[in-house]
This record gives sequence, structure tokens and C-alpha cells, in this order.
Amino acid sequence: MVAGNWKMNTTVAEGVALAAAVLERCSAETAVDVVVLPPFVHLQPVHEVLAGSRVRLGAQDVFWEDAGAYTGEVSAAMLADLCDLVLVGHSERRHLLGETDVETGRKLAAAVRHGLVAIVAVGETESEHDAGDTLAVVDRQLDAVLAAQSTALTPDGWVIAYEPVWAIGTGRTATPEQAQEVCAHIRVHVERRLGAAPRVLYGGSVSAANAAELFACPDIDGGLVGGASLKPDVFATIVAAAGTR
Ligand code: PGA
Repeated sequence: MVAGNWKMNTTVAEGVALAAAVLERCSAETAVDVVVLPPFVHLQPVHEVLAGSRVRLGAQDVFWEDAGAYTGEVSAAMLADLCDLVLVGHSERRHLLGETDVETGRKLAAAVRHGLVAIVAVGETESEHDAGDTLAVVDRQLDAVLAAQSTALTPDGWVIAYEPVWAIGTGRTATPEQAQEVCAHIRVHVERRLGAAPRVLYGGSVSAANAAELFACPDIDGGLVGGASLKPDVFATIVAAAGTR
């Protein structure tokens, strides 16, 4: 899977054009689940662009309640007709907007309740990395998310994205060895808890130059791509790198 997280970028018209460009360049890539994650207001028109294609659509966030007095929020019930997937627990939501592990878990539960595949992002900050706490941090984040689930998670029902915070938008990618170590640890940790793990992606400054090396790692099943997903040619190169894995 290669998922493009557009973050808070593009106008609706630019987003529609970007989706069309991704569709043109990536729809022949049958070995890869290609996903775009545009801003909420783009979802309906991008849904129309992608209709009937292999490129899948997801939202960047979701609220855990289905409806009610939650000004500004968007529920999984609202997204279910438009999207296949939703990203939860991205580090920008955790660190800029104060989202907690427990809230991320509730968002995953809401997504699963409405048949959306949730991409759950986990990852350590630079100081946690430097202190050698990476594995403990991702375990804590995953355990909190799993504790919030009332129904069983199937491996196809969710995806984990390991994104070291110090690598996001910085141009400083984890080495393939570092990324492989953490993704392998995540897989074993979740298998111990649930019996089976979902796909595990790496994210954080994935580029056309480093994608093939990262995706060649045995426990990295694809990428969550931020900045590079806004450039359709670069994104297509990253998707192609996943296709030759
Ligand atoms: P980046 O972002 O590829 O720009 O580092 C990744 C992400 O935040 O998902």
C-alpha cells in the first residue's frame, strides 16, 4: 500500500487535478493499493474523479461519535459513503492538536464500526528516539489503541503506519535498518496481542530516491507519503517502487 497524505494542501480545484494526475499515472499499478488522503472538503469531488478506478480514497481524520453536537467534527458514518479508508493518530494531530492515544483508539473503533479501513499512525519523537524509547513508545500507542476496541480487528480491517516524528517533513528519513527494526517489532507485538497483524507501512520523508530501499525491507509493506504525494510524478515513482517489491 502507498497512501498519499495531502495534509492541509491544495484548493478543491487543485486537489481534483492532483487526483486525476495520480489516477492517470498509477491506475495500471495492479500490485499496489494506491490511496489518496485529501482534505475533507475535497472528498466528494475526488470521489467522483476516482469512481470505478483502483485508486482508493481516504480521509485524514475522523471523530469517534456518529452524530450530535460536535461542532466542526466529521463522523465515520458521514465518511462511509465517500471513502474506503481513514487515517487516525497522525503525529500532527497528536502533537499539534493534543490528540491522545485513547482518542486515537476511539477513532479506530468508529472507523471499524462503519466499515472503513483505518490507517493508525504511531511513532516516537526525536527526544524519545534519542533516549532509546522508540519501541516502548510504539508499544504504548498500539496497546492504548487496541484497548479501545470492543470488536475484533481483522488484519484487513486496519493498517499500521510507523512514522518517526523526527522524520516527518524534515527530509531526514529513518534508515531502512531502523525502519525495518521498528516495523518488525510492531508486527510481532500485534501478532502476540491479536494473533495476526495488519500491513505495516513506513512514513517520514519517503521520496523517489529512498522508496525502493525502504520497501525492500521484509517487514515494510508500503509507505505513508506526505510532501512527495503532492507531486504526481514523484508519487507514481514511489508507487512503482512498491510494485516491484
Ligand atoms: P512526509 O510526511 O512524507 O512529508 O515526511 C509523512 C506523513 O506525515 O505522513
